[in-house]
Amino acid sequence: MLFQPPLPAKYDDYSRDELVDRIRRCKADLGGRLVILGHHYQDDDVIQFADFTGDSLKLSQIAAEQRQAEFVVFCGVHFMAESADILTANGVKVVLPDLSAGCSMADMAEIEQLEEAWDALVDMAGSTVIPITYVNSTAAIKAFCGRHGGACCTSGNAKRVLEWALSQGEKVLFLPDQHLGRNTAYAMGYSLDEMVVYDPKRRDGGLAADRIREARFYLWNGHCSVHQLFTPEDADEIRRLDDGYSIMVHPECSWGVVQKADCVGSTEGIIKTVSESAPGSKWAIGTEIHLVNRLANEHRDKVVRSLARVQCLCTTMYRIDMKHLLCSLEALVAGRIVNQILVDPETSRYAQIALDRMLSHAAPQPAPAD
Ligand code: 13P
Ligand code: SF4
Repeated sequence: MLFQPPLPAKYDDYSRDELVDRIRRCKADLGGRLVILGHHYQDDDVIQFADFTGDSLKLSQIAAEQRQAEFVVFCGVHFMAESADILTANGVKVVLPDLSAGCSMADMAEIEQLEEAWDALVDMAGSTVIPITYVNSTAAIKAFCGRHGGACCTSGNAKRVLEWALSQGEKVLFLPDQHLGRNTAYAMGYSLDEMVVYDPKRRDGGLAADRIREARFYLWNGHCSVHQLFTPEDADEIRRLDDGYSIMVHPECSWGVVQKADCVGSTEGIIKTVSESAPGSKWAIGTEIHLVNRLANEHRDKVVRSLARVQCLCTTMYRIDMKHLLCSLEALVAGRIVNQILVDPETSRYAQIALDRMLSHAAPQPAPAD
């Protein structure tokens, strides 16, 4: 995680109304030079200022389309801002309002671990391995995949990317989220026996040589600490409470949870499904709480609640607040760039290959998939 220096004290002194007012004035001052992107897990306080909202896939595509703006202020987490820096035209500066807004899942795959894993797996696999990384990973991991014939994916296109990968080679190393890998491969008809979990903290991933030879999918031992909080028992509890609820979960949830759900969808898929459902529909949703609360507010003619009783909150996304947003915007107005996210050209070049493969081979898939 990067270090975010404390903000100047004046930002703590502003009232809520002053913060809103000042952010609006900065946006007006910067005009077309500025684009603010907001991930759906951001708080409404921040989302109200976003020019575009989206999930990781949609925001990557929007970032890639930015040709006029000078500054992209990314209200999301570090790996998303890195992707935006890679995908935007040269000269577009990407700013992350709070540098400590990282992702614990992305932190679970380090490039040195991947290099070691690759050597072991390629040696023992007995056939071609294609590395696929969820975009929730560092630029260095994406670059590795680009350099080794692989690609990125998001929750919105993982199936399409895996289909592509299996047309390029016989086996897939999927990182860093074992759950997205397992849920997607299982939904494509592969059995759990064809998947093994590679633990980067153990020698040879903790796998015997024959398991490495037999398996088709090597799933990295990583997960999302937010989506991992949902349990199969939460689904049982909802059914006990009221069997009128449909349960819909994000594919970062564990396989056991996905099996209990009525449908599984990426972030955009969840939004679309709730929006298009009939008035009176009842939804228990397994994803980040800000999105669930927003859906509940926007669809008062339906019942929308979290699948879990505990608060499933992405605490790092939550670090981006109005104070940090204002501080980065005021700096831009004053002609200073703070918290710029810059990926070095060599990493950027190969990471772009992996991202471009994702964007060209894999349009978003319709959701939800049963
Ligand atoms: P998507 O935006 O791809 O749905 O991923 C959810 C998430 O966890 C973002 O970090
Ligand atoms: Fe990372 Fe999970 Fe937060 Fe997404 S929700 S940024 S995967 S910790």
